[in-house]
Amino acid sequence: MSAFRVALITGASSGIGAGFARVLPAATHLILTGRDRDALSSLARDLARPGRDIAIVPADLATDAGREAVIAAGERAGVDLLVNNAGLGFFGPVHRNDAADERVMVEVNVTAPVVLTRALLPGMIERATAPGARRAGVIMVSSISAFLPVGRLATYASTKAFKLHYAQSLAADLSGLPVDVLALCPGFTATKFGERSGMRPWMFHRAATPEQVAEAALAGLGRRPLVTVGSGAVLAPLAQRFLPRRLMAAGVVAAMKMLKKQSGT
Ligand SMILES: NC(=O)c1ccc[n+]([C@@H]2O[C@H](COP(=O)([O-])OP(=O)(O)OC[C@H]3O[C@@H](n4cnc5c(N)ncnc54)[C@H](OP(=O)(O)O)[C@@H]3O)[C@@H](O)[C@H]2O)c1
Repeated sequence: MSAFRVALITGASSGIGAGFARVLPAATHLILTGRDRDALSSLARDLARPGRDIAIVPADLATDAGREAVIAAGERAGVDLLVNNAGLGFFGPVHRNDAADERVMVEVNVTAPVVLTRALLPGMIERATAPGARRAGVIMVSSISAFLPVGRLATYASTKAFKLHYAQSLAADLSGLPVDVLALCPGFTATKFGERSGMRPWMFHRAATPEQVAEAALAGLGRRPLVTVGSGAVLAPLAQRFLPRRLMAAGVVAAMKMLKKQSGT
């Protein structure tokens, strides 16, 4: 893989986003964004190398102001790899979940990647079309939950289904242009996600590491439109293909109830 010039990674303050930052070659300049300024600064210090520019952009992607700050940083630096990774989920039945939490999931998981991608793509295409330039890339971090109806994570899983369809449709829009699009569907991955979303660790005991997920994505970008990786990554697409949807929905909700019982949430 020849190195991208500038990668913009959302949700770089922990988990899979930080994994991307860690596995990208040192020749790639980085724009790291998330809300946690200290975590971003500490990662930037770890990854500093002579000649490498690393910008941190603390920003809340649930807000227009936060999204605009990230876009401005991406345009200024001439980004050629956009990793739409930031995301969050809240565990529980829709009618009992906090209404504001339900809305934030859509803002961060759906609105932000759509707004960032639309704003940054024209410049990415223009730069990638210049003589001698390398291809640009967009990675949309979806989830294996995109393949299934997921009671107790209904809004979250639906935002991930949106991202999967958006990535696949965007790839069709960009065919013939020098920009590769990848839909990344991780299975269980060892990050803060499980705890933050209200789940407890037992489902994550065979989880992939964030770096394994990021490496699989970067290896797949430009070669395949979809990468599924980590535990559950084989089963979910198969279930989607072969099981009736009603059966899948019942099976997943039974598993989720078990999860609730074990976790006490
Ligand atoms: N872990 C898994 O098992 C798994 C499986 C499939 C898909 N995924 C997806 O992977 C992506 C990364 O999650 P992760 O597992 O690495 O979890 P994580 O460790 O909790 O990281 C989530 C990242 O998203 C950022 N973020 C959340 N809300 C934000 C907001 N309002 N504004 C800006 N940034 C925000 C967080 O940054 P701050 O806290 O600094 O704001 C953090 O950097 C998500 O899209 C998730 O859906 C995870």
